[in-house]
Parts: sequence; structure tokens; C-alpha cells
Amino acid sequence: MPLRAGRKQTACSDQGLLPDSTASPQPTRNQPMYPLEDGSFAPRNQWYVAAWSQEIKRSPLERVILDNPVVLYRTTDGKVAALAAFCPHRGFPLAKGDVIADDIECPYHGLRFGPDGACTLIPSQDVIPAACRLRAYPVAERWQWVWIWVGDPDLADEALIPDHFEARLTDPAYRNAGGNYFEVPGRYVLLHDNLLDLNHVPYLHKATFGGDGGGAVQIPEVVAKETTISCTFTQPAIDCPPFLSALFGYSGPVSRTYVSYFYAPCLHVIVDSISRLDPATGVTEQLGDLLHIHAVTPATATTAHYFQGEGQNFSHTEPCLSEAFRSSEMVRAALEEDVSATRFIEQSIAMNRGRLSEILLKADKAAVLGRRMLQALIDAEAPATR
Ligand code: FES
Ligand SMILES: [Fe+2]
Repeated sequence: MPLRAGRKQTACSDQGLLPDSTASPQPTRNQPMYPLEDGSFAPRNQWYVAAWSQEIKRSPLERVILDNPVVLYRTTDGKVAALAAFCPHRGFPLAKGDVIADDIECPYHGLRFGPDGACTLIPSQDVIPAACRLRAYPVAERWQWVWIWVGDPDLADEALIPDHFEARLTDPAYRNAGGNYFEVPGRYVLLHDNLLDLNHVPYLHKATFGGDGGGAVQIPEVVAKETTISCTFTQPAIDCPPFLSALFGYSGPVSRTYVSYFYAPCLHVIVDSISRLDPATGVTEQLGDLLHIHAVTPATATTAHYFQGEGQNFSHTEPCLSEAFRSSEMVRAALEEDVSATRFIEQSIAMNRGRLSEILLKADKAAVLGRRMLQALIDAEAPATR
């Protein structure tokens, strides 16, 4: 008989679920799903992932970040330029143009703009009006990501980007592979809800990771700080799930702990630690960690960008195990399941005219704290920056 962690009862209300220290607006039935209050849907004075580094080439790419259409390209020295995406002359989308040296050329009448947004050429006249320029967005490359700041540029401090070493993304003990990307037809908060409640894994991902093998169904231990949340799930004695057996080359009893770290408002890193277990003695021997890496960026109020990668700190062989896992059909299909769930719920919200009833379970604690954290970040911003 398979080994399996026991279940606990859950409650059907949020009373008593959350510590007083986290008190702030309570989600109640038939209220707009926050953070959507006061006309804002996401904190703007924050760094967000705009793209994988490998996506940004000399040819321009357009992407909407928090309602800002942005065109991204690389200059001759390899730096990333991020500019407002529409030509100030007639609004032509610049991503359809060419990059010439360090400038982007609008294909309609040939105006050119440098990576700082300044107009460098108007073919039909010598004088360049002062207003003829594009907004240039601060960007920073970290690990395999291009981070962007669409808020007040004077506040764009790169020290505010989550510490990538602490998050294990640049820790040399780990070999990490990014590259999965999805345009999500649902609000970014729904993806955070998803990633902050891994109880969905054995159900939503039954067809991909397998029912019992996909993860624990339990109320995790949750620790919230000002802008971070960690959730710890433990499976002290289970049969090694088949997809993990394939990665570790081991099948038999294991002890599994996975800790999901949320760095508001964008990054999630799940550290999935597997140990070989001797059920007779309870002695464990670590097989290794998997990293499940996720970044969520609001595109519009009801759409999002989803970036995903995988990592490992064992078997540093060629070909890279993380890259094979990240690009596998199974992971791709599982991510599609998350994207579909987000789309379905967004459709439910639309059918309910934005006022969706929700029943909170004990297992929703981290997701609720995550929403409160996002709302607090929005509330802390001056209205002028929204
Ligand atoms: S619209 Fe871009 S040059 Fe005219
Ligand atoms: Fe999922």
C-alpha cells in the first residue's frame, strides 16, 4: 500500500485563520476581488520581469507591462532598451520597425529614437520638437531575466529587485534553466493565488504530475514578512512520485519537503527537497533539491505574463537535467493547466461582473496574505503614480 501523509480537517470560513498582525481589509462575499480597489490593480513602483534575456534581440519585441505598451530591443553593445511602444508622430507600433545601430526606426515616416527615448531623426525636417520623444523605462538584467520598472523612474532602485542569490537563482550550487513563457488570459493575482496554494497540484495536475505523486494536500506552515511569504509543505513518508523517480534515478520511499517562497509582487521560488527514506528506522539521506521558478507580471487588469523555469542542485550532468525537465511535455502541459485554470476563473469573474463570491479555506492563508501584501503595496503608492 502506498505511503501517504495524513489529512487534516479544513474550515469553511476565514475566522481565526489569520494572525492579528496581518489585519487589513478582509475579503468578503460579493466584493470586488482585491487588489482592484481605487482603480488600481497592481503596485507600479516595483520591479517586474518583462522578458527572458534570450527573448530580447536586435529585432524589437512589444510587451504590455501594467498597461504600458513597451518595445524592447538590444543596442549594439548588448544592453536592453525599453521604450514606449508607439511612435509619438502617428502612433505607429515601433515593434514593427527596424533597429538601426542603437536607434529604433518607425516604419511609417522614418522617425528614429535612441535608447534614451530621444528622437534622433525626422527625415522631413531639421528641427526636432522637444515633445517628440518616447518614455524610456529603467531595466536591469538579473539571472536570465530582464526586469523593468514602469513606475516613478526616480524610485527605480535596483537594490529593490529580489536577491537572486538568496532565491537560489544565481547560487552556483544550483543549475537553473529558464525559458517557459505564457500570455495568461487572467489577472495576475489568480496566478499568485495558484502558486501560494499548492494544494491544487494533485487535483489540477492529476493528468501530468499524477494524483498522489504531485504534492501534499495539507495546511502548510506559513510565515509572512513585510514583502515575502514562505509556505512549507511536508510529506514525511511517501512513495517517490514517478516523475521524481525519473529525475533522481531512484524509486522507493522518500521524505519530501517543499517550501514556496513569494517575493512580492513578482517572484516565486519553490524549493522541493527530496530525501531517500528508510521506513524502518526513519533515517533519511538527501537526494537533492528541485527548484520550481515562477515570475508573474501584470499586463493589463485582466491579463498577465507568466515566466517559468526549473532548477536542481544534484546530478550536474550533460545534458542539463533542469533544461530537459523545464522543456518537457509534462511540465509544459502542467503549466497549461495552471493557465487554463486562471482563464476559467477570469471568465467566472467576468460572468459575475467582477464581484465573485469566495469561500476561504484554511489552506488559503498564504494566498490571502499574498493579496493583502499586494493591496498594501498599492495603498502605499501616491495616487499620482497610479
Ligand atoms: S507614425 Fe511614426 S514616423 Fe509617422
Ligand atoms: Fe500548478
